[in-house]
Amino acid sequence: MKYCLVAVLLVVLNVVGQQQLPIVPLPQSIEVGNGSFNWNKETRILLAPNEGLEFEAKFLQARIEELTGIKLQVSHKSKDAKSAIRLVFRKGEHPDEHHIRIDRSGVEISAVTAEGIFHGIQSLLQLMHANYKQAKVIQLPFCEIYDVPNLEWRGMHLDVCRHFFSPDEVKRYIDYLALYKMNTFHWHLTEDQGWRIEIKKYPKLTEVGAWRDGSMVGHYSDQTFDSVRYGGYYTQEQIKEIVAYAQERHVTVVPEIEMPGHALAALSAYPELSCTGGPFEVGKSWGVFDDVYCAGNEEVFTFLENVLDEVVELFPSEYIHIGGDECPKTRWKSCAKCQQRMVDEGLKDEHELQSYFIQRMERYLNEKGKKIIGWDEILEGGLAPNAAVMSWRGEEGGIAAATQEHYVVMSPGSPCYFDHYQHSDKENEPVAIGGLNTLEAVYAYHPIPDELDEQKRHFILGAQANVWTEYINTFEQVEYMALPRMAAMAEVLWSVPAQKNYSDFLQRLSVQLTITDVWKTNYCKHFLNELK
Ligand code: ACM
Ligand code: ZN
Repeated sequence: MKYCLVAVLLVVLNVVGQQQLPIVPLPQSIEVGNGSFNWNKETRILLAPNEGLEFEAKFLQARIEELTGIKLQVSHKSKDAKSAIRLVFRKGEHPDEHHIRIDRSGVEISAVTAEGIFHGIQSLLQLMHANYKQAKVIQLPFCEIYDVPNLEWRGMHLDVCRHFFSPDEVKRYIDYLALYKMNTFHWHLTEDQGWRIEIKKYPKLTEVGAWRDGSMVGHYSDQTFDSVRYGGYYTQEQIKEIVAYAQERHVTVVPEIEMPGHALAALSAYPELSCTGGPFEVGKSWGVFDDVYCAGNEEVFTFLENVLDEVVELFPSEYIHIGGDECPKTRWKSCAKCQQRMVDEGLKDEHELQSYFIQRMERYLNEKGKKIIGWDEILEGGLAPNAAVMSWRGEEGGIAAATQEHYVVMSPGSPCYFDHYQHSDKENEPVAIGGLNTLEAVYAYHPIPDELDEQKRHFILGAQANVWTEYINTFEQVEYMALPRMAAMAEVLWSVPAQKNYSDFLQRLSVQLTITDVWKTNYCKHFLNELK
């Protein structure tokens, strides 16, 4: 009984502590003490020499300077430990865990890996911002924080094809992921409406495929177009820079190269890769197009293998996303080459032909040491042996894949599509594709389905939110749609589900978003009306 009371008291103290510290996502455990560490410009960022934390130290230094104008010195001398922010390695159970201790002598962030240290820095920065706003001096409360992520795949996607965003904007998007300890950036690089990655062997992909002669204006239902030439692409040098930028921030970039559908931009450049031979133009309308890669033509596989050869050189990620969604079978049904392929391979329908296509690409990528992930349509006609599934048409595909012992990332339209409205007053919101995924609905999400057999639950790697950009034509609008819903998704993925509490989250968020005020981020402020 006594222990029971102590346990209850600890939980209460913990919750009180968490409410006092505006960190998002919610850390696993916080104990707040009495007193505070007041730092000044003599405080040092202290780290042992040659430990490989130089980037983390510089990152912290730059962010403190951005907030306060004060550039703290980075030091390797232990005599500077009197007033210091110490970054140190320690042994621990989880590579991703970190501890933060704030006491009279300063701050110590300790972790098993640089990634853990980086995540600790993000929490510290959130505390600094909160206190700076309130007091204009940096008083950091004495506390001990232990934190470790709950799920492995904490993802955000960005479609740069329907609308294009500059390398600097993509980097800022990665900053938001890092701020919320998200670790996977799914970069949707090829589409009907634009091919956005330079491929040296096929220059027409970007000379032709990156540009369209007009775009839809207003909603799809209006069927109205402008005739403004629109496009852009990333050079391989820019991609390397963005991947390195993400890597430093412990974010993995997973590129998506769509196949066999959503390929009209590529077919506009190389119409011989289609079933009909074209000609085609890069898509101006949103939606799904019948012209896809021909599954009966060997040249298509050679082309895609050559493209992927360059892609795998650019992206060190374990996974390559091969799309696989929304591939109409219309052309394949009347294409002699596709039909011959079905006969030769003993395939009973066009779904099996799609499965043949994906399995071939999987074999190729597996030989190169990569794994594939695809949208849940890759289940149709039989899943490729080692493929992971991204479940977007609800959770059924994810449940089916996990049941078959394949890894899964949950991304069901509701609530993970951030191109949907976030507020029920749609009339007063910028035009969006439709649907409604409120901040509260995102926060309430739980990516491990109850109906999934307990033995199979570990196949759910995590979840991600998707920002499709048909109706998002500026980066300010990307920010508006992504934030603060990204913060809610981060808490879904990082924090312990039983500790989540929406009104507590809103309180922490309202303080914590001062960081994005410094960055002049255009986040959606509706949630401020929900604060009690
Ligand atoms: C998708 O939204 N077509 C994956
Ligand atoms: Zn064909």
